[in-house]
Amino acid sequence: MREAAYQAGLITPNNSEQLIIALEPEAAAVFCRQSKLREFVEGRNRDETVSSAFVPAQTQYLVVDNGGGTMDVTVHEVDDNDDVKEIYHATGGDFGGTKVDKEFQNLLEKVFGKDLMDEFCRSHPSDWLELMNDFEMKKRGDRVMRGEETRVRLPANFVNLMRHENIGRSDNEIIKRHYHAEQLRISKEYLCLGSEIVKSLFESTINAIIKHLETLGKKKELRGVKLMFLVGGFSESPLLQAAIKKKFKHKYKILIPNDAETAVVKGAVMFGRRPHVVVERCLSETYGTDCCVDFINGLHKYEKLKIIDGKRKCQDIFSVLARENEKVKMGQCKTSTFCPILANQTTVGFDFYTSSNPDVFYTTDAGVRELPGCMSVESPNTSKGTKREIKLEVYFNTEIKMIGIDVETGNEATTSIDFLWH
Ligand SMILES: Nc1ncnc2c1ncn2[C@@H]1O[C@H](COP(=O)(O)OP(=O)(O)OP(=O)(O)O)[C@@H](O)[C@H]1O
Ligand SMILES: [Mg+2]
Repeated sequence: MREAAYQAGLITPNNSEQLIIALEPEAAAVFCRQSKLREFVEGRNRDETVSSAFVPAQTQYLVVDNGGGTMDVTVHEVDDNDDVKEIYHATGGDFGGTKVDKEFQNLLEKVFGKDLMDEFCRSHPSDWLELMNDFEMKKRGDRVMRGEETRVRLPANFVNLMRHENIGRSDNEIIKRHYHAEQLRISKEYLCLGSEIVKSLFESTINAIIKHLETLGKKKELRGVKLMFLVGGFSESPLLQAAIKKKFKHKYKILIPNDAETAVVKGAVMFGRRPHVVVERCLSETYGTDCCVDFINGLHKYEKLKIIDGKRKCQDIFSVLARENEKVKMGQCKTSTFCPILANQTTVGFDFYTSSNPDVFYTTDAGVRELPGCMSVESPNTSKGTKREIKLEVYFNTEIKMIGIDVETGNEATTSIDFLWH
């Protein structure tokens, strides 16, 4: 994110402190806690804030951000000073509102044929967008909740193409091959989707969201959680709201801001004014750097053996700087010490990696990703050879800042990596 901001010219590395990166679920939580109850679905006219009504000290809550591409869940606890601790690492999955759009496209392909849909997209891209935009609007409606049909307008170019490809058949004969008229039909230029069909478009996404929340709810760390905030655009879906309430209303008090779609962005502004509200986070991945160590027979793989300055070394070791599920205090510094591999090298480079496996061993293991952001520490005084100490200080905030220090000369180098879970 920071690199992108530099490249976009928003800030420069020289004034890097002018950009604070907010984590979306935290921003949403800040917004929800400061909002008044009347700003929530079913909040009635109550003027109290959520914090005073539902979030006293020791309260644990879930923030569920249902977006277009992903669902992201964070679990917090508020302490006596009104500071927030993340008590379980962020989780989620790629089940968001756009999966419903994909299901609608699948339905169109099933009914009208993939070739016809491809042809329509290719020849009339703006009409295709109009069709999908109309679906986007209708998908947000609540007709489905009343068992009513949802009507999506078919552009004239689509209707013409469909009729041209199906000469001799009426519009509804085309559909009848797959659906009954009460499920799906064409009326004038509208595709009318019965409520069961609309529900089926949402089904797999909603099921995946419920399943994820169910699995999370069983974790022992989350036993004390009694409150759930639902934010993100997809949380505005009446079908999703109903499904979550049906499944979890006895387990959690469920609070949904009226404008769930903008909770993150409004919260980010609040977060910018009080960036230290979150005092502790739980790492969702393992972070490390690569290093070389003395080769140990039986422990290290032979393919990693390298003779350096006449010594047997094992390369590509993943040296863990912070491990998954570790709780880190914001501003906390962890220090590790490394040495140059070669006696005469005057620059020591660090690359950084993240791993989805906390027991990772090599940087080449499955699930390891190299992170953007590397750094080189100048170490011009080589008199101590490989016995020189290069300290690596790791500071935690919404980003992880690394400072490399050549102990002999005090030379420093710095880089930052995003504190993101995927
Ligand atoms: N009332 C509604 N009913 C159903 N879906 C809705 C409604 N309002 C918004 N959405 C869906 O929510 C999604 C957008 O949500 P949001 O703006 O939170 O996503 P995002 O933050 O851009 O995505 P992500 O968080 O995955 O990066 C879209 O798929 C949109 O169709
Ligand atoms: Mg989002």
